[in-house]
Amino acid sequence: MTSQAIQTQGLTRRFGATTAVDHLSLTVETGEIFGFLGHNGAGKTTTVRLLNGVLGADGGDIRVLGLDPAADGPKLRARTGVLTETPSLDERLSAVDNLTIYADLYAVPTGEVNGRVNGILETFGLAERGREKVGGYSKGMKQRLALARAFLHQPDLLFLDEPTAGLDPVATQEVHDMILHVSREEGRTVFLCTHNLVEAQRLCHRVAVMEQGQMVAVGTPRELAHTIGADMRFTLEIAPDQVETARAAVIPLAAVSAVETTDAELTLTVNDREAVPDLLAALQAAHVRVYAVIPQQTSLEDIYMALHRRKGQA
Ligand SMILES: Nc1ncnc2c1ncn2[C@@H]1O[C@H](COP(=O)(O)OP(=O)(O)OP(=O)(O)O)[C@@H](O)[C@H]1O
Ligand SMILES: [Mg+2]
Repeated sequence: MTSQAIQTQGLTRRFGATTAVDHLSLTVETGEIFGFLGHNGAGKTTTVRLLNGVLGADGGDIRVLGLDPAADGPKLRARTGVLTETPSLDERLSAVDNLTIYADLYAVPTGEVNGRVNGILETFGLAERGREKVGGYSKGMKQRLALARAFLHQPDLLFLDEPTAGLDPVATQEVHDMILHVSREEGRTVFLCTHNLVEAQRLCHRVAVMEQGQMVAVGTPRELAHTIGADMRFTLEIAPDQVETARAAVIPLAAVSAVETTDAELTLTVNDREAVPDLLAALQAAHVRVYAVIPQQTSLEDIYMALHRRKGQA
């Protein structure tokens, strides 16, 4: 058993003059939630389709769950679940019927279908209205049903293409909880395309950033922050009557590029981690008592924007 759920090497797909996916070399480890980020048209959906074998590549190699999607499509799709950008549900049928048909299609053993369908409707908060026609569902309910369908045959690997697009905050939270559940409790691998950087930051172990078919960065949010040379920010907790003394002590230090204060806190931005011990020494010399040093994580949004700007300058 390979520990890599997905591996691509030089994966390329063109549509006429557009190179939708351009020499993409990517590895997704088994069990991780991997975020696939990028602007509209960056190549995310095309990549998902290539990885599932519903679209052929113009070049490069792909292994998904140890299989070649082009040659072993049906075998692969039995082990992957896909939530597409615009999932099609039969609106004339109930959720139970939609899922039952799908269970048959995906060869869920007949004796297990009822239990599996009812169980998943329960998990996704749709059990009460499971016998109503899907046409009468809200957008959030339809999305949850589509997600339930992708999970139904208990795939090892889930492709979720913008699973929370258009959902309200409560429904979004519910979908997040479900993604975390299948990852943490069931050990499934999740490949998540999203525009929502807060979502990616919250859910993903690692993320890749795509621009015009090319992967411009990949890693944990922390690694990416390091790659872009993001400034480090941290907050110091100090006594209220020492805030001004502290500010005066740190302002002369060259590495400090910004100082923000509140009544008992100082938030500093420095451009070099080596500045931190110097800063603490300067504060100690000024007899400032520091009660806590709290690092402020660079947000994925900051990272994404920085990468985008950098690409623009290239
Ligand atoms: N079937 C197709 N025919 C022609 N061009 C296509 C086709 N599918 C994708 N493309 C083009 O390939 C590029 C990548 O599209 P893709 O749908 O993969 O992007 P995406 O990152 O999923 O975008 P979005 O965030 O808008 O969903 C775009 O320029 C798109 O127009
Ligand atoms: Mg897309």
